[in-house]
Amino acid sequence: MTRLWLVRILGLVLSAALLLAACGGTDDDAAGDAAGDDDAATAADDPATGADDAATDDVATDAAAGGDETEGASAGGEGLIAVLLPDSASSARWESDDRRFFEAAFEDAGLTGDDYQILNAEGDASNQQSQAEQAITNGATVLLLVNLDSGSGATIIDNAKAQDVAVIDYDRLTLDGDADYYVSFDNEAVGRLQGETLVECVEEAGIESPAVAVLNGSPTDNNATLFKNGYDSVLNPLFESGDWTEVDDQSVPDWDNQQALVIFEQMLTAAGGEIDAVLAANDGLGNAAIQALRSAGLDGIPVTGQDATAEGMQNIVLGDQCMTVYKAIRDEAQAAAELAVALRNGEQPETTATVDNGSKEVDSVLLEPVAVTIDNINETVISDEFRTVEEICAGDAAESEWCQENG
Ligand code: BGC
Repeated sequence: MTRLWLVRILGLVLSAALLLAACGGTDDDAAGDAAGDDDAATAADDPATGADDAATDDVATDAAAGGDETEGASAGGEGLIAVLLPDSASSARWESDDRRFFEAAFEDAGLTGDDYQILNAEGDASNQQSQAEQAITNGATVLLLVNLDSGSGATIIDNAKAQDVAVIDYDRLTLDGDADYYVSFDNEAVGRLQGETLVECVEEAGIESPAVAVLNGSPTDNNATLFKNGYDSVLNPLFESGDWTEVDDQSVPDWDNQQALVIFEQMLTAAGGEIDAVLAANDGLGNAAIQALRSAGLDGIPVTGQDATAEGMQNIVLGDQCMTVYKAIRDEAQAAAELAVALRNGEQPETTATVDNGSKEVDSVLLEPVAVTIDNINETVISDEFRTVEEICAGDAAESEWCQENG
């Protein structure tokens, strides 16, 4: 019998035991213990969790963390830590970056794959709600939540807190929610960097009086509002003075890249092809604009982005995207994982800021974003080992001058 089958059968037996324990009574401890026992099977069973066996089998990690001490560290706290990611379509970051950095951070903290789950709601708020409930049933004591909108996020938080489960808003603030902590970047600074660097790109390209299109992120994401506050503070004075012209400004529901393409194509048609620069709120939206511009045979048009995704970096070396914003997701996941581990251990975590979510001040950790253009790729995403030259210089990008020089 293969190991996979053994794990599956074990999972079934344990699920049955859990069901019996849950039906058996109101004793919190009994339910908690049973849920705790089920962790291994749940983590191994669920392909979406990414709580892979490699984490448990990783000899190097165990050795580095000090053998027995590893046992002690994870045994010191109680229950699972569950990370609730929003989707894999609005940005490549969630699956390509946040997941791997969370895994590394938890392992650095001495946790094993049995101690945490990383789940992805794939853009479905009710799915995220079920994932949160399931994680709590499985013994989660801390949730790290990237909400899909503040309303559904607040419901998840209220439900968790009613069961004494701590909640950290990860990356996106839940407006009027009751999260215990918030870990993110200075998101207005992200938007300011996009605006300021677009101004530099337009000047460098020698474009006078540009006609500018703006593609905002999802109206349901508080970050999209903050990014917009940031870039509007740079662009609005230019529009008001008449130096720049605003062709159009639209939000992209759910940051949907396909919808962004349709929206941008319509903007381009309505403007008779006269768009000279694009403020796009992330790399996915930027790539949608770039595709439409390429199809229309337009090049050399400055387009912004965010997330320093592999695709975004390729568009930069190809000269189709003028900047992205690098947010050190390793640091963000690390800070959030440390908070979560402290809470799991019953300790008081350290924070550096407070943020008003509309109904309360939330203790927070906010990190600084960095603008990346073709001129500082090596000093930022490469030296930080966030992206590799190999992944940037793949496909068409391999032929670019940057890749010829750096590849
Ligand atoms: C994140 C961005 C991401 C966007 C779409 C925002 O909340 O801060 O990094 O590109 O969501 O997923």
